[in-house]
Amino acid sequence: MCGIVGYIGDKESQQVLLSGLKRLEYRGYDSAGIVTLGASGEPTSLREKGKVAELEKKILNHKKDDEVGIGHTRWATHGAPSKRNAHPHNVGDIYLVHNGIIENYQDLKTELTKYDYDFKSETDTEVLTALVDYIYKKDGTSLVSAVSQALKMVVGAYGIAVLSVKNPSEIVVARKGSPLIVGLGDDEVFVASDASALVGHTDQVIYMRDGEIGVCTREGVQLYDIEANEINASVEKLELDLQSIQKKGYDHFLLKEIYEQPESLNSTLLGRVSADPLRARLGGLNMSDNEIRKVEHVMVIGCGTAYYAGLEAGYFIEQFLDGVTFSSQIASELRYRSFTVPKNTVALIVSQSGETADTLACLQELKRRGVKCLGVVNAVGSTIAREVDGGVYVHVGAEISVASTKAFTSQVAAITIFGLMLAQAKGVGQMQLRSYIHELEALPSEIEKVLKKHDKEVQKIAKAYAHYEHALYIGRDALYPIALEGALKLKEVSYVHAEGYAAGELKHGPIALIDDRFFEVCYIQDNWLYEKSQSNLIEMNARGAHAIAITNTSKRIAAEKVIRVNTKLELFTPLVFNVISQLLAYYVAVARGNDVDQPRNLAKSVTVE
Ligand code: G6P
Repeated sequence: MCGIVGYIGDKESQQVLLSGLKRLEYRGYDSAGIVTLGASGEPTSLREKGKVAELEKKILNHKKDDEVGIGHTRWATHGAPSKRNAHPHNVGDIYLVHNGIIENYQDLKTELTKYDYDFKSETDTEVLTALVDYIYKKDGTSLVSAVSQALKMVVGAYGIAVLSVKNPSEIVVARKGSPLIVGLGDDEVFVASDASALVGHTDQVIYMRDGEIGVCTREGVQLYDIEANEINASVEKLELDLQSIQKKGYDHFLLKEIYEQPESLNSTLLGRVSADPLRARLGGLNMSDNEIRKVEHVMVIGCGTAYYAGLEAGYFIEQFLDGVTFSSQIASELRYRSFTVPKNTVALIVSQSGETADTLACLQELKRRGVKCLGVVNAVGSTIAREVDGGVYVHVGAEISVASTKAFTSQVAAITIFGLMLAQAKGVGQMQLRSYIHELEALPSEIEKVLKKHDKEVQKIAKAYAHYEHALYIGRDALYPIALEGALKLKEVSYVHAEGYAAGELKHGPIALIDDRFFEVCYIQDNWLYEKSQSNLIEMNARGAHAIAITNTSKRIAAEKVIRVNTKLELFTPLVFNVISQLLAYYVAVARGNDVDQPRNLAKSVTVE
């Protein structure tokens, strides 16, 4: 949510900042801006409403060879998306970019107006900028000291980068609750809220921790705690390459990421499961065999697609694991509930970005209560990955498109492997576990086969159904979370109103919706629920449905369109069906002419509540 970049070195900072902002645009794209400082501090500040491309046009007309600057791409929280509200904000000598929310900004604003500060924007960021300026001037102090004092007065979350026109040889950065990474080059230093902006510049990075403040100069960075005591930074190697953040010939990242699933899933499984000898093992959990044996309850927590991944894995795991209860929780709900944690609980904290504010808040609350928390995270070095007691990286590579696809499939797989580990530790029959591991190992190639075989067919159906304004997705058992996820994908990228429902709930409400403005997506697996699902279709047809069935049965299916998926899997068939609904959402969005990778109003990483 919002992106921050900063640069100090001997390159043209405008260009470095611009290319960084383009990489971060998937995080927020309401408006963008940069400010650079000349050798004696003269600022060039450029801001534009809309996408980074708008800012780029402006930069072309105001080229500077300044060697220090900061930039921002915004996802609006306080104040509408507009040029006036775009970052960097400037008050007096100070320019500042900010991710996060300053909760007490109204109180601070009231105070600052007493000292003749008036405000041009509606943002909390401008208030923080004024506060830094006020302290900087009043105390005649260093910028880092002014920032540190200002932050002590602030309630909320922030990642910030700050410049003073009085000193063009440093950038001050700080974080609390919103990620910030410093990249070290040769006589140059980069700042970014997301590692993807650093790729190609340097692989030597420092992940800042909450409460840290840094002073970046060409020579490097000095970190301080909030009391301005010097602290040592640990430099790590950035594990992200340029290839993984490029489209590689696909029209959109979304399509590329859908197609990457066989490979990304293989990376998730690699070295973690084996049918012969039987093994399901996740390194990095920091749990002894005895602790694993003792687990009686698994609580999976996430937001959006990550939450659905937990739901889906729960359906799989209950097929082979007795005696362990499994619950999936929406993080934004859980954090404000007065919930009880059963004894011997392990919490799985699921997050692609590792930065989602609500998920992080749950992690912190559960840790406070002494619950063992394990991460199921994609972004290496992210906040959640650092704060958990142990965990597993899903290793799907960079996921750039805002709508999550390959991360979902791998999150389900990783949580299921955790379930298999528990089952093995608790002595579940080897035969049964072996068959599931065989299936898991076959899943990547099954997905690959289905993508190849059905792409054109789904594209054609999507074109024919793209004019509908509403969609209802239904499924039973493990196809119910797939219906929820399918509907979420469609609404995110196509803006078609879509609802996911348990098919058995049809008569309890949603059947009343069916009319000519709707199409329906029905997932039907060839198992003990086939007849029930077929009945749902017949009931809907009687009300004039326009149903698309996604199924693996060769039996009769009463739908307008039937996508027959041939898979040898049983347990994991829902994940194969899900790939079809990912394609459907993608092609409907393309047919409707939408911005597929950066859908309106959304952001990839939701670092504020
Ligand atoms: C946002 C993204 C979704 C994602 C959710 C949780 O809503 O647009 O794609 O599923 O956040 O994100 P996380 O990074 O925690 O998995």
